[in-house]
Amino acid sequence: MLDTEQIKKLVGIKAVDLVMPGMTIGIGSGSTVSHFITALAAKVREGLICKAVPTSLQTFNLAKDQGISMMELNEVPAIDLAIDGADETNHHLQLIKGGGGALLQEKMVAAAAKKFVVIADNNKMKDKLGQFPLPLEVVPYGWKQVAFRVEQNYNVQSILRMKEGKPFISDHGHYILDCHFPVIDDAAGLNSSLHLIPGVVETGLFIDMCDEVIIGYPDGTVHYFK
Ligand code: 5RP
Repeated sequence: MLDTEQIKKLVGIKAVDLVMPGMTIGIGSGSTVSHFITALAAKVREGLICKAVPTSLQTFNLAKDQGISMMELNEVPAIDLAIDGADETNHHLQLIKGGGGALLQEKMVAAAAKKFVVIADNNKMKDKLGQFPLPLEVVPYGWKQVAFRVEQNYNVQSILRMKEGKPFISDHGHYILDCHFPVIDDAAGLNSSLHLIPGVVETGLFIDMCDEVIIGYPDGTVHYFK
């Protein structure tokens, strides 16, 4: 039986099969994607020509160090394929992302992609989203008002993400509020209404964006949800 890290590696390697020569690839963030980066870099060393657009500084450094040619989103007309992880997915291919705090750039890269594929271990597949706290990227100015509005509107706890005793700062200089919705019945409606709160930059709900989810299981099998 595979442990979670081995499953992440399995789906990371599987995703490389989707990369064709000459493609521009959006590369997501997180531990699952780090396995994809390693497998993609091996193909590049074998002669695969491709370029990649990262979704975080962490991914940029990891991919560049392994010899993958990196571009900025503004430097490419479009992305052929984006590969990313997720914190949760359901069978409608709706996602919660942002556990690593890279949700804004991840969403922009996914939106620019002709095909967006998520790779994850079986623990991430849920009947309903919401067990994982929903990340909200907010401007630091007046963030307490945003947290208060979320708590008032939805009767949920909204907690400022901290790192080493200070507010966590995203790659784009924003704060993250982790919102503890017990269960999310209407993910699309929630995404729309959260965007109406002044100060919200982006939500970790990815709706109608994902084309395919590749889930790995402890027995070594892989399922493709489309
Ligand atoms: C980062 C993300 C990641 O894709 C998500 O947190 C999954 O990470 P991991 O593969 O480490 O479980 O959304 O913002």
